[in-house]
Amino acid sequence: MPRTAPPAADAAAPGDSAGAGGGARADGGLIRHRRGWKARVNAWRKRTPLNPYWIDRVHLRRAAEALAPRASGVLLDVGGGERPYGDLFAPHVDRYVGLEYPPMCDNLVPEIWDVLPRVRAIVDVWGDGNRLPIATGSVDTVLLSEVLEHVPEPQLMLAEVARVLRPGGRALVTVPFMAPLHQLPYDYWRYTDEGLRAMFERAGLEVETIDPRGNSAAAAGSLVTQYLLRVFGARSLNCDGSVTMSRWRAPLVLPLVALVQGVFAFAARFTDDRSLCMGWTAVARRPEGS
Ligand SMILES: C[S@@+](CC[C@H](N)C(=O)[O-])C[C@H]1O[C@@H](n2cnc3c(N)ncnc32)[C@H](O)[C@@H]1O
Repeated sequence: MPRTAPPAADAAAPGDSAGAGGGARADGGLIRHRRGWKARVNAWRKRTPLNPYWIDRVHLRRAAEALAPRASGVLLDVGGGERPYGDLFAPHVDRYVGLEYPPMCDNLVPEIWDVLPRVRAIVDVWGDGNRLPIATGSVDTVLLSEVLEHVPEPQLMLAEVARVLRPGGRALVTVPFMAPLHQLPYDYWRYTDEGLRAMFERAGLEVETIDPRGNSAAAAGSLVTQYLLRVFGARSLNCDGSVTMSRWRAPLVLPLVALVQGVFAFAARFTDDRSLCMGWTAVARRPEGS
């Protein structure tokens, strides 16, 4: 598979004296030490309900766990980012190929520039999902995890997915139904299950399953959490839709966020109302003989 050159620009370090960024900033031993423990605490916090995206991440992880056994052979992860589910899919495939799109990778706000070196380090192919630099019929599995909302012409991307899949190969897809605007200005769509089905069929893919991600209680928990974060916890709402938390309000807002997510996650066990959900998890197949 061809590999295009990665973009030349290195991630600049943010000028935030709090040490929130990473990248090329020169820092002394003391700061490095503080960033070390801060990074460890932050990594722990992100796995708990103190992370305002915890409830979404739990359900996305469950979706990936459900999809992973459907993967096989050569897997192409289109728009794979940091490959958050690589560990789940890798045992089921012979080869894992991550593709990223340079313009998106370079258009993030300083607060998340520290992600870029990590993403660049694991990308196998640079390219546009709408014009995949991949041979026709050469891939067994395509993973599209929270990507289809970021392209202006998702139907074109699905047609490309159908083209690169071998007959019988599968597209494993997750999309949001209810999610805050993110990665602006590249945030174009939210999906319903029937809308997704129609798009797969138009691309010549047979739908195997489309399942809701979460239920109305989980979705409500996510909404209330985002309200608390954005209205009470934010120091700034950034131009790409991300939120920088106020250092002073975080100790008050984050415990509340944790409580809300805990309560709604518990409530989610007792409802099967899926008329409101956080997103969809779908499997579609390129028909044999096509
Ligand atoms: C919300 S992130 C999801 C990242 C990762 N798949 C995940 O599940 O965490 C959306 C991703 O779509 C990628 N993307 C956007 N437009 C793309 C395009 N035209 N071709 C390929 N990837 C694209 C972005 O670079 C970004 O990594």
